[in-house]
Amino acid sequence: MKTDVGFRAIIFFFSFTMLILGAAPMAIAKPHVEKAAFGKASGNRPVEIYTLTNTSGAEVRIMTYGGTVVSLRVPDRNGKFADVVLGFDSVADYEKSTSYIGALIGRYGNRIALGRFTLNGTEYRLATNNGVNHLHGGPKGYDKVIWKARPSVDQNGANLELSYISRDGEEGYPGNLKVTVIYTLTEQNELKIVYTATADRDTIVNLTHHSYFNLAGAGYGDILRHELKLNASRFTPTDAGSIPTGELRSVKGTPFDFTTPTAIGKRIAADDEQIRFGKGYDHNFVLDRSDDGIWLAATVYEPTSGRVMDVLTTEPGMQFYSGNFLDGSVSGKSGQMYLKNSGFCLESQHFPDSPNQPKFPSTTLKKGQKYSTTTIYRFSAR
Ligand code: GLA
Repeated sequence: MKTDVGFRAIIFFFSFTMLILGAAPMAIAKPHVEKAAFGKASGNRPVEIYTLTNTSGAEVRIMTYGGTVVSLRVPDRNGKFADVVLGFDSVADYEKSTSYIGALIGRYGNRIALGRFTLNGTEYRLATNNGVNHLHGGPKGYDKVIWKARPSVDQNGANLELSYISRDGEEGYPGNLKVTVIYTLTEQNELKIVYTATADRDTIVNLTHHSYFNLAGAGYGDILRHELKLNASRFTPTDAGSIPTGELRSVKGTPFDFTTPTAIGKRIAADDEQIRFGKGYDHNFVLDRSDDGIWLAATVYEPTSGRVMDVLTTEPGMQFYSGNFLDGSVSGKSGQMYLKNSGFCLESQHFPDSPNQPKFPSTTLKKGQKYSTTTIYRFSAR
């Protein structure tokens, strides 16, 4: 009899505890991070995916391969969530892709002419992967490596810290570079990205992020009716190979004037040499900033869903790329076709080819100095 009572008490206590443990996470929604396997990269290397969720249910999934944002769910004006970034279902698809979809970009985002630059009197030759030029860190840039991940939750929100050591000589760059990128999903529906790096030799650095956004929902048509406002009164025109000529040209009276909100598609086929070179927009804008703090550089509004994305950054430039080279040859998440202009990128950055352009802001990182930049993609609806 005694044993029976004891046994019942144990069962009761056990059930009660299970109830509390099981119910608690559902009842109190708090920012949290969950880890899961996301398949294997070539060479049988495991890739993990982390889901960061905030109290209101916004969610970003980031994998260790390329530090890539695989999906990002935010609400529209009726509170309906949709995934607003392009992506793939498997690591193999990301390995095959050369479109940098959702990835972290380094050591140098954007192009370096002929893959050459001189630093402290020494000429360095980088791997070339964009005709004769070097693009986004080379054929095996930071988008093609596996990052070390450390999740956490603090007063800022749900965080994923990613780190990578880029070795001296990798893709031709001098010096070992220790890179850390912290993604935070804040309670204000912001995806905040903080980049830091240090080198053991003088080198060049220009880190960025390459999500393709479609605020109507990834796979739901093109982005041509999205309205863009870019706080930039100048841009850096290029040659036919997308290398800046060195000029900072006024956007006034050109298809590059987004100083008032304008549909991306309105002038995308204009009879304009720069538009022809880029096959649409694929240009660096010189942001109208007065200091180097965090600053509102761009706002995009999608009229059917009401979704709004603000881009804030500490960087001097922004590559606006209208997804011109997407051609339907790759199919994305859930078999969706990614056709031309099905996503746009706003890549905060230093200007392209800065190591060869003495008048552009410098991208040199001195040995022992700390590289540190911040960019925020902030989502709302109206
Ligand atoms: C960047 C470049 C584009 C293109 C895309 C990826 O935005 O500026 O020219 O290479 O990446 O396809």
